[in-house]
Amino acid sequence: MAESKTTKNVKVKNIEKVAFPKKASTKEPTLQEKTKILFVASEARPFIATGGLADVIGSLPQALASDATYDIRVVLPLYSDIKQEFRHKMNFLGNIYVPLGWRNQYCGIFTCVDKGVTYYFIDNEYYFKRTGCYGYYDDGERFAFFSRSVLEILPVIDYYPELLHCHDWQTALTVVYLKTMYAKKSEYQSIRTLFTIHNIEYQGKYSLDLLGELFGLPSDSRNLLEYDACINLMKGAIECTEQFSTVSPTYAKEIQTAQYAHGLEDIIRKNSAKLTGILNGIDVASYNPATDPALFANFNENDLENKKICKAELQKMLGLPVKDVPIIAMISRLVSHKGLELVKTVAEDILHENIQFVLLGTGDFAYEEYFKDLGKRYEGKASINIAFNGDLSRKIYSGSDIFLMPSVSEPCGLSQMIASRYATIPLVRETGGLFDSIKPFGAGGNGFTFSSCNAYDMLYVIHEAIDAYKNTDEWEKLMKKAMTTDFSWSRSAEEYKNLYKNTLK
Ligand code: GLC
Repeated sequence: MAESKTTKNVKVKNIEKVAFPKKASTKEPTLQEKTKILFVASEARPFIATGGLADVIGSLPQALASDATYDIRVVLPLYSDIKQEFRHKMNFLGNIYVPLGWRNQYCGIFTCVDKGVTYYFIDNEYYFKRTGCYGYYDDGERFAFFSRSVLEILPVIDYYPELLHCHDWQTALTVVYLKTMYAKKSEYQSIRTLFTIHNIEYQGKYSLDLLGELFGLPSDSRNLLEYDACINLMKGAIECTEQFSTVSPTYAKEIQTAQYAHGLEDIIRKNSAKLTGILNGIDVASYNPATDPALFANFNENDLENKKICKAELQKMLGLPVKDVPIIAMISRLVSHKGLELVKTVAEDILHENIQFVLLGTGDFAYEEYFKDLGKRYEGKASINIAFNGDLSRKIYSGSDIFLMPSVSEPCGLSQMIASRYATIPLVRETGGLFDSIKPFGAGGNGFTFSSCNAYDMLYVIHEAIDAYKNTDEWEKLMKKAMTTDFSWSRSAEEYKNLYKNTLK
């Protein structure tokens, strides 16, 4: 991979233009006729993933690209954690130097095509040759470089999108740079932006003196970014963008309140006329119990028999007795907004029931230690797995009965949708995307829900679910209902297309 350097006055070199696909049939719209949308994000499956954002960027562009009237591309940082199997498929397009404050930073451009979507990768080893994606002292500078590079590579890749769809604080500066420093450049003038918030907790806050020095922004842009005596990158994007969205209709309402907005409620309310909430989907081809190779046995909504094999094999694998009691599972980051205080408050009550409890996840040290201890005290009844393991997660989704997700806040949440698809019934708190995707069993819905952040309300509903499990016929109906709830991207992709149309008007 090319070296990172800091050099001035270097011109574009080694540029090979991207080979555009030939027109397939006379009906197919030409490239010029297609709506060009460039996704800008800090992670995407299958290349690199730390959370739900990667699932969305790994599947929404493909769902959109299946519509021949769209030309969808994605730009990502080239982290060193991106595996060789993907690097082998990439072509080097060339390199440029990207201005950032007083510096000029090397920017290599790689590309590949996967499932109808063209990906670009921004290479700079100084910024991205590190383990993981985030958590470095200079994350602000790393993602300012990435955000600026996105705009600088457009002439090189010969692609000026009509719309930049930017995701989360790491790409907020793309919007701000476009609307300030690039506003007078003719090729950039007609580019519109949509900024999507996946989690408002992470806003990208920095000291005010970094405005010019690090981010290279003129002092008259200070009012756009300043908030609460800091630079707030998310705030800047919300102020500058034509439209912004979040990942469920309920979260779009919640973030207008102090309880959920982590200090940004006034900004969200002020800009609410340009805010939309669109529920995410999941990749239903990947999360398909009928074909998923990670499962002990495959099953579908017409024949659930093999789910019993999934359960028995999971019990064996985790050292739990093989018996017909409901398995309550959690697959979660172990952080407080996932509602773990509620679980802690009534964990002993839950474990005194005739159930088994399975947990998979990593996170805050205190929670990891708490659950490890619980696992020791309830050996043979609770299986605690402090790990991040995709294969095991699919075995747990398919082999459990009840999926517990009592989040204090949840912008969308994907696990409740995946669990449903594997006939494991979600039990959720009514917040954000959980409220929008799971409706109570008692009212003919597809899961179990409780509303207040109260451990005993949750416990009450857990008892309700355990009782429902005992009625085999009812439970089977509920499993079928959960499995057949439409969580595919096709519904949400249509909503995004409408939003793009409105933004481009
Ligand atoms: C964030 C949110 C989660 C959402 C995901 C994808 O991780 O916390 O609720 O599902 O983004 O939008």
